[in-house]
Amino acid sequence: MSKKVHIKTWGCQMNVYDSDRMVDVVAPLGYAPTEEVADADLVIFNTCHIREKASEKLFSELGRLRSHREAKAQQGGRMMVAVAGCVAQAEGAEIKNRVPWIDMVFGPQTYHQLPEMIARVSREKGVVLNTEFPPVAKFDFLPDTSITTKVSAFLAVQEGCDKFCTFCVVPYTRGAEYSRSVDAVVKEAGRLVHEGAREITLLGQNVNAFHGEGPDGKTWGLARLLYRLAEIPELKRLRYTTSHPRDMTDELIVAHRDIPQLMPFLHLPVQSGSDTVLEAMNRKHTSDDYRRVIDHVRAARPDTALSSDFIVGFPGETDQDFDATMKLIRDIGYAQAFSFKYSRRPGTPASAMTNQIDESVKDVRLQELQKLLREQQEQFNIATVGQTLSVLIENKMQKDGLVFGRTPYMQALHLAAPECLVGQEVRVGITSAGFQRLEGVVATVSADAA
Ligand code: SAH
Ligand code: SF4
Ligand code: F3S
Repeated sequence: MSKKVHIKTWGCQMNVYDSDRMVDVVAPLGYAPTEEVADADLVIFNTCHIREKASEKLFSELGRLRSHREAKAQQGGRMMVAVAGCVAQAEGAEIKNRVPWIDMVFGPQTYHQLPEMIARVSREKGVVLNTEFPPVAKFDFLPDTSITTKVSAFLAVQEGCDKFCTFCVVPYTRGAEYSRSVDAVVKEAGRLVHEGAREITLLGQNVNAFHGEGPDGKTWGLARLLYRLAEIPELKRLRYTTSHPRDMTDELIVAHRDIPQLMPFLHLPVQSGSDTVLEAMNRKHTSDDYRRVIDHVRAARPDTALSSDFIVGFPGETDQDFDATMKLIRDIGYAQAFSFKYSRRPGTPASAMTNQIDESVKDVRLQELQKLLREQQEQFNIATVGQTLSVLIENKMQKDGLVFGRTPYMQALHLAAPECLVGQEVRVGITSAGFQRLEGVVATVSADAA
């Protein structure tokens, strides 16, 4: 490989998946991935539009990149620069205007066309702008090998969203809900395992709304897909993210009880504990609906660790509404969670609401909420000290003699163990725990780790 590609990724796991697939798409053209932006012949910024400031950050990154690009040109080389992802999808024309030297701007649905775009950039002057939603899904055009596969791999099974929560840009940047066929998913999972993956996280903006065409011609839901994937012999662990409470079907909940490979961890965003706010958000579920789902999941698999997303300071959120969110958090008890201040996104219904909340109020609420979530996470981790847990070793760490792995509950763990254990499930006695991670000692290595 003679050329180098550098990709910087912001945003959700789907963007991480997309970036890896972009590496695979350009590999046949002779591009090898590099961490060093100055070395790169092709730089791709894969962007996220979910909250404010994303585009400002992008423009300042592009400003910094310009000097590298000019240095390269002075040496007689060329650095192609592309903006991809959700900011590109939402603000493609503006990027083209503000950064006239940019080479390519393309959205999440067109990166399989990178070889054609690169060819056009080499041939012509001017910007290639490619933010259409093509009628045929990109997945069928992606390479069937990968040089980026990891022990814990992502697999996109569903993309887009039809739910239109009033705060959210995803339905606009990722388009309408789309599910891949079961055959395509099973084939990609087989390939990932062949390339060394031992855990697969199925991805989708609404992954539990998956409704792909099955090999029998019928529509399969996520639960059926999980049972099918659990038949792959060397695949030790399955996870899925992100889910919507409304799509937690009974069948999917039962799968948590019946599929041993499906890890006891569920990321189920609730956003708020107040029914008034949930309604204004167009979430189409109440806080009791959410509690019922959690009860059912815990009845099916009592040790399920829970995670969620929260927004504070949504337009109109009162102190009482915020208290209802705090109460929900206390009632449920989370192993981890993400929380954000509401951010006004142009074009979404909530950004036009007149009852916006002061930044200072949002700040105070976020601090209070994060303090509680942090305590819960710490308590959850400390409660595992003294237990022996199965840990999938994902990679060696920079510091010699240490490896990184995760427990079934998604807890990060650092372990003194040989590198040859990467890809193995190891029984680990947990010796200490903090907010962010656990430490432990190897108890036993699973039978196949000889
Ligand atoms: N598809 C996922 C969420 C994608 S965005 C789902 O439905 O759960 C990830 C998280 O970002 C959301 O769950 C929400 O908590 C947060 N988020 C989305 N839009 C936001 C906004 N305008 N302001 C603040 N947080 C937002
Ligand atoms: Fe956004 Fe709501 Fe769709 Fe999630 S369900 S992607 S929060 S619109
Ligand atoms: Fe961001 Fe797009 Fe994901 S807006 S969160 S990268 S779907």
